[in-house]
Amino acid sequence: MSKTILITGGAGFIGSHVVREFVLKYPEYQIINLDALTYAGNLENLKDIEACANYRFIKADITDQGLILELFQQYQPDGIIHLAAESHVDRSITDPSAFVMTNVIGTVNLLNAAKEIWKNNFEGKRFHHVSTDEVYGTLGETGLFKETTSYDPHSPYSASKASSDHFVRAYHDTYGLPIVITNCSNNYGPNHFPEKLIPLCIHNILNNRPLPIYGDGKFTRDWLFVIDHAKAIDLVFHQGKNGDSYNVGGFNEWKNIDLVKELCRQVDEKLNRATGTADQLITFVKDRPGHDLRYAIDATKINQELGYQPSVTFEQGLSITIDWFLQNQDWLDSVTSGDYQNYYKKQYH
Ligand code: NAD
Ligand code: DAU
Repeated sequence: MSKTILITGGAGFIGSHVVREFVLKYPEYQIINLDALTYAGNLENLKDIEACANYRFIKADITDQGLILELFQQYQPDGIIHLAAESHVDRSITDPSAFVMTNVIGTVNLLNAAKEIWKNNFEGKRFHHVSTDEVYGTLGETGLFKETTSYDPHSPYSASKASSDHFVRAYHDTYGLPIVITNCSNNYGPNHFPEKLIPLCIHNILNNRPLPIYGDGKFTRDWLFVIDHAKAIDLVFHQGKNGDSYNVGGFNEWKNIDLVKELCRQVDEKLNRATGTADQLITFVKDRPGHDLRYAIDATKINQELGYQPSVTFEQGLSITIDWFLQNQDWLDSVTSGDYQNYYKKQYH
């Protein structure tokens, strides 16, 4: 069936994989990518599909309430998949306001616009909000985040995402807006912006720079290959139960220091160098304030209700990721010139 799907943040890391998945899998859909092209948005991520007949890009800022309503009235989307956000925890510690504007106000603008154009006729409509496991706060040494775990965000980033989740649920409960929410664990893969741990370390290894590990390196994250997140979004968007949220993850926990050592081992192997070469760059640095100790997703619900399974193992996903960065050093060079250098100096010196 023909539909118009508006994807926000489609020029970013995860959004670009979601846009590609939808453009190629659903030629009968019109896919609109709405993105402000902040430092994190990059149309190079979508070069391979930009000429597809069912794809259109619109540069717009979700904090611009009037413009968002106008665009919704013009394009009349049947579905929204909302990924646009300020996404980096360290930047939220330096400048929380941008996170409130985009993640909270921007989300409310989209909810209002959807409610306005759908005018209480919600048949065949869906607002899919893409969120994070960070809303649940931190785990101790044991336990997993379930959909029923209480929200307990600690960073300005996770507080803004938690707030946006609450607004999305409130629009469902108050106005009957048809919504689904996905809360995913840490993603990795091609096109990952090199402010985040994995691509930052790959970039630094290639430039022989220190690999900065916060604190003692024992902080734990649960990693999912980005294309597997895109597939989960496809599944929940089409088959998720109205009003429900779904945790997305691959039961794949790594302590940061072990992950970086594995990354170093694979890069050394791919560059035909002695094992231990990249390891020498590992440097322990000052910890992130309010650093959550451990995230780990219980993905039982999405698995049992929707049959979701990640398609690659972590070893395969990491290998694909490293190969992509080795083959796309122009992409890395272009996104690390200019402002990135200022960000890096402020954050790490
Ligand atoms: P990203 O930072 O790579 O991309 C964000 C995109 O949003 C960029 O293209 C940017 O230009 C756009 N954007 C930012 N502000 C905007 C605005 N005001 N108006 C319009 N567009 C704007 O982020 P990502 O890592 O791809 O994350 C995408 C979504 O998934 C976010 O909502 C994030 O909270 C969520 N998420 C991310 C992860 C992860 O590991 N990266 C995990 C779980 C959930
Ligand atoms: O859990 C999902 C979240 O994962 C998403 O919602 C966020 O958008 C995404 O950025 C990511 O947040 P993290 O803070 O977990 O990702 P990051 O890559 O910044 O850090 C991963 C871990 O590595 C974390 O424990 C902090 C640590 N770290 C990070 C950087 C950038 C370091 O030790 N050194 C670093 O230089």
